[in-house]
Amino acid sequence: MRLLAHAKINWSLAVLSRRADGYHELDSLMQSVGLSDELSLFEAEGLRFSSVGGVPVPQGADNLALRAARALQEASGVGRGARMLLRKRIPTGAGLGGGSADAAAALVGLNIIWKLNFSERALCDIARTLGADVPFCVAGGLARARGVGEALTPVRAAREYPLVIVKPAEGLPTPDIFRAWDAMSAPPPNPDIGAVENALSRGDAAALASAIGNALTEPAVARLPQVAACAQALTRCGALSAWMTGSGSAVVGLFATDAEAARARRDLAGIWRFTYQTRTSSRGVTILSE
Ligand code: C5P
Repeated sequence: MRLLAHAKINWSLAVLSRRADGYHELDSLMQSVGLSDELSLFEAEGLRFSSVGGVPVPQGADNLALRAARALQEASGVGRGARMLLRKRIPTGAGLGGGSADAAAALVGLNIIWKLNFSERALCDIARTLGADVPFCVAGGLARARGVGEALTPVRAAREYPLVIVKPAEGLPTPDIFRAWDAMSAPPPNPDIGAVENALSRGDAAALASAIGNALTEPAVARLPQVAACAQALTRCGALSAWMTGSGSAVVGLFATDAEAARARRDLAGIWRFTYQTRTSSRGVTILSE
């Protein structure tokens, strides 16, 4: 079986508070995009994982696809195995949910090839134990995300949007950026998430562009100034808005047309090695073949 594991972006992100367990209460709009990893699954004895492609994949306990497979074995009590081959394209340390997407694709795919018949809701419950963004990657599309990112309300997307994503060579570790937010003397202002949701529901790109924001930008830029440079470069290339996704370090540019996005990608790819042209997607996981 072959699946696409789609990256996510945050159209906006507000940090509401720090919880006693160290996680943060968020309010955000999450969106699947076309940029994806490709996961191939084969029934086999035991669990085995290998990867190809330019982007290195964490091995051992940090490998979210393997952890997802083990969690599904445990939840089902089924002793079936699988060989997993990942073609990695989504850059890591980017705020694009690459590891979460791989875990989501493993849950969706293994649920089918092991004939477990778990509902999407049941898969999301397992997903939550793997990471805050994994339930969204299972559900996919466009959703308002609250709690630590796992409490999802689907939002009907009025249209698709052309995007260019640029990531500095260096990535950013999510826990460090949240810790830097904690250490700020005054929390940075939060974007108006309701206004972003409203603009997305109406398909109003201009209103969307002016409402977008991310409360983690300031701590991320303080650590990695190239985040701001990526945003400036995208704006210079005609982006209606350019903003950081998640805890960075990738920056997303919203474009009026695919042709403008293509031109920006060409201009930026010579300077920024990690430059991707994509579009919003209605799916978190796509099944290519069974
Ligand atoms: O859940 P996940 O393992 O993806 O989260 C990685 C880290 O990001 C957490 O250990 C925590 O430090 C931080 N985080 C947070 N608040 C969230 C999501 C993640 O503080 N809502």
